[in-house]
Amino acid sequence: MFNAEKFIEKTIPNLQKDIQRKALIAFSGGVDSTVCAALVNKAIGDRLIAVHVNTGYMRKNEPEQVKQMMEDLSLNYRFVDASKEYYAALKGVEDPEKKRKIIGEKFIRIFEKVAREEKVDYLVQGTIAPDWIESGGGLRDTIKSHHNVGGLPKDMKLKLAEPLRDLYKDEVRKVARVLHLKVSERQPFPGPGLAIRIIGEPTPERTELVREACDIVEKEIERASEQGLMERPWQYFAVLIPIKTVGVHGDKRAYGNTIAIRAVQSVDAMTCHYSTIPHEVLDTISTKITNTMKEKVNRIVYDVTNKPPGTVEWE
Ligand code: XMP
Repeated sequence: MFNAEKFIEKTIPNLQKDIQRKALIAFSGGVDSTVCAALVNKAIGDRLIAVHVNTGYMRKNEPEQVKQMMEDLSLNYRFVDASKEYYAALKGVEDPEKKRKIIGEKFIRIFEKVAREEKVDYLVQGTIAPDWIESGGGLRDTIKSHHNVGGLPKDMKLKLAEPLRDLYKDEVRKVARVLHLKVSERQPFPGPGLAIRIIGEPTPERTELVREACDIVEKEIERASEQGLMERPWQYFAVLIPIKTVGVHGDKRAYGNTIAIRAVQSVDAMTCHYSTIPHEVLDTISTKITNTMKEKVNRIVYDVTNKPPGTVEWE
């Protein structure tokens, strides 16, 4: 049985022993990186520098919220807006693994630059067990190169500290609760962000569509869960399928994209079952998405795939 207090007690002195000078952490605002940052901050204080990179593939208002979280945790932090750089690097890229590799590698290069400026020697990552198991770290095939594993360049100069690498998500949440972190119930969000929720090229225009759709799905599902209409899923979001279909707006022909709604129940993300969303909630989501993006999206579908054989994210 996992004991979060014991885990914290054991981890802090280990971090103090390993990290003699300064360390850098990629702070995404998700459960894993927030728990990691809080732990390492407890261990080495201001010698930890949290860096948030806005890749341009964050959710609506997320960069501002993340900044506030770093303030609230009293972290020593740097905020880097690299969205234009990311959009340029992903121009014309359609292959999911290529997207992941480019995003992961760019991340590390940005960190290396900050690391040189700040003279740090350690990179702290919030990698958890399913990340490296599914990236081929165990005896299994690579299913997808998870951002914090697959994107690491071979010539990386920083040493790695991954205090959560043997933990599963429910265990990370237990640690978050013991540390009184508000983030403990936040749904997971993948490192490559919305780029892997856009099938095909993740252009700035397509990103805006999926960002808006994800926001509507999140808000409506949270509202429905709070009203007791459904159980809150483990994860819930939208995927942009750039397949155009014919529709009608008023009395005019429309030819727009498709949005898929994805909501799953899981314990550790290794397997999942699709959530049953009441039809009235699906209906509200569908209407809101098509009304908000009238000319651009005119078809909404619901994904009823379990994992396996699917994965949680589409890419
Ligand atoms: P999949 O899609 O592999 O996702 O079934 C399992 C869980 O991991 C999240 N995910 C990621 N998390 N970096 C992360 O930190 C990544 O590259 C990444 N890809 C997927 C996904 O959202 C789900 O919770």
